[in-house]
Amino acid sequence: MASYDVIIIGSGPGGYVCAIRCAQLGLKTACVEGRETLGGTCLNIGCIPSKALLHATHQLHEAEHNFAKMGLKGKSPSVDWKQMLAYKDDVIGQNTKGIEFLFKKNKIDWLKGWGTIPEPGKVEVAGEVHEAGNIVIATGSEPSSLPGVEIDEKIVVTSTGALELPKVPKKMVVIGGGVIGLEMGSVYARLGTEVTVIEFLDAITPGMDAEVAKTFQKILKKQGINFIMGAAVQSVETLKTKAKVNYKLRKDDSEDQVDADVVLVATGRKPYTDGLGLDALGVGIAKRGQIEVDDHWATNVKGLYAIGDAITGPMLAHKAEDEGMAVAEVLAGKNGHVNYGVIPGVIYTAPEVAAVGKTEEELKQEGRAYKVGKFSFMGNGRAKAVFQGDGFVKLLADKETDRLLGAHIIGPMAGDLIHEICVAMEFGASAEDVALTCHAHPTFSEAVREAALACGDGAIHA
Ligand code: NAI
Repeated sequence: MASYDVIIIGSGPGGYVCAIRCAQLGLKTACVEGRETLGGTCLNIGCIPSKALLHATHQLHEAEHNFAKMGLKGKSPSVDWKQMLAYKDDVIGQNTKGIEFLFKKNKIDWLKGWGTIPEPGKVEVAGEVHEAGNIVIATGSEPSSLPGVEIDEKIVVTSTGALELPKVPKKMVVIGGGVIGLEMGSVYARLGTEVTVIEFLDAITPGMDAEVAKTFQKILKKQGINFIMGAAVQSVETLKTKAKVNYKLRKDDSEDQVDADVVLVATGRKPYTDGLGLDALGVGIAKRGQIEVDDHWATNVKGLYAIGDAITGPMLAHKAEDEGMAVAEVLAGKNGHVNYGVIPGVIYTAPEVAAVGKTEEELKQEGRAYKVGKFSFMGNGRAKAVFQGDGFVKLLADKETDRLLGAHIIGPMAGDLIHEICVAMEFGASAEDVALTCHAHPTFSEAVREAALACGDGAIHA
């Protein structure tokens, strides 16, 4: 039996970051992981592999649509799907090995196996019980399916199966117009698959600023993705190599069906806490399966903490990382803090979509007086030079104080541009602060400054 200051269960972005920070703060640390590689869903079957496929297929799109315009002639590349998957797997390997290296560097023990908590202060892994001063649960989430829809990861797949289909399907139905559905839908649409997204609500990406969501859907439609909106999927019937997706339109209850070679179920995720023994410990669990924690990520059991997708809040890798670092600080006797008001969200389609802070709808609902500064990428020289003039930057600021309240960007590198506003918001900056900051020319970031100028006396290039 080994004894540790902290044992973290799960090595995803929440868990491994927490482990590294604990070790850096002088705590004797172990991390439990049952998968063959470290990194959790994000590195193995989520964020990282999907970005590799998004990158590869975006390059294909550029070759097919924009190369000739720039005088780059010749045959477009053909797709070697096996090689593309091998490239994706190589990217995964580099990242997971990177974490193994960081564990060694920081003297973190990797306890291989699936952990259970037989009693407070103890973690059992592969038949061995270890002692822990504190335990952090960072076990993440798993796809949640729908009644009447059976996942086989061959024809009816989650994001996991969608990352390793044996061949590029001719027809794909995506259930759910959220982040996973639109990212993976984009990958396959660029590879020539006929993609149809079936979404329950009347707008895609619920929670997103409505103006951005509308523009986003228009752009995706132009890229060839079909949408069936306001439709509840009732069931999926699988035949040998095909499936039929039955749905009902909410507006008139009429029923219809679409067929597909592959159906991607992307209707959300749920906390993954199976096998931890939380019931026996009496850990408080919310209705939707999240572990209940206080402001310092402590559960109702002494010495037991939880972070990331397993607790409430957006299911985002970087939110989990921040909680991982903060809980490590708490366990080391310092003040861990996460500013939940400034957590960016990014969708890695082309164009990218990024947001932080409040949406216009939220501000309206709160009855808050606000102003909007908007700037189109059509007025940005750099964006036009690279065929990425679609989209805009929209800033929301307090009408009286000019303090930034939110940012919504659809356009080139939106996922990177958003961080200028994240930093500004962390410092309580006004739109004028951003407008007065010199931005290099020609960069996409000038569009952010122009939107900030639009909150005041006006953008220059509008
Ligand atoms: P999501 O919550 O983003 O979207 C699910 C969509 O499915 C919603 O639009 C919902 O209205 C729709 N839906 C639910 N039931 C339906 C039904 N019966 N018929 C039709 N539509 C239905 O969930 P998603 O895309 O599965 O992603 C899961 C989690 O993973 C999210 O929390 C997301 O933030 C995270 N994620 C984040 C990424 C990123 O940050 N780039 C990438 C991938 C996932």
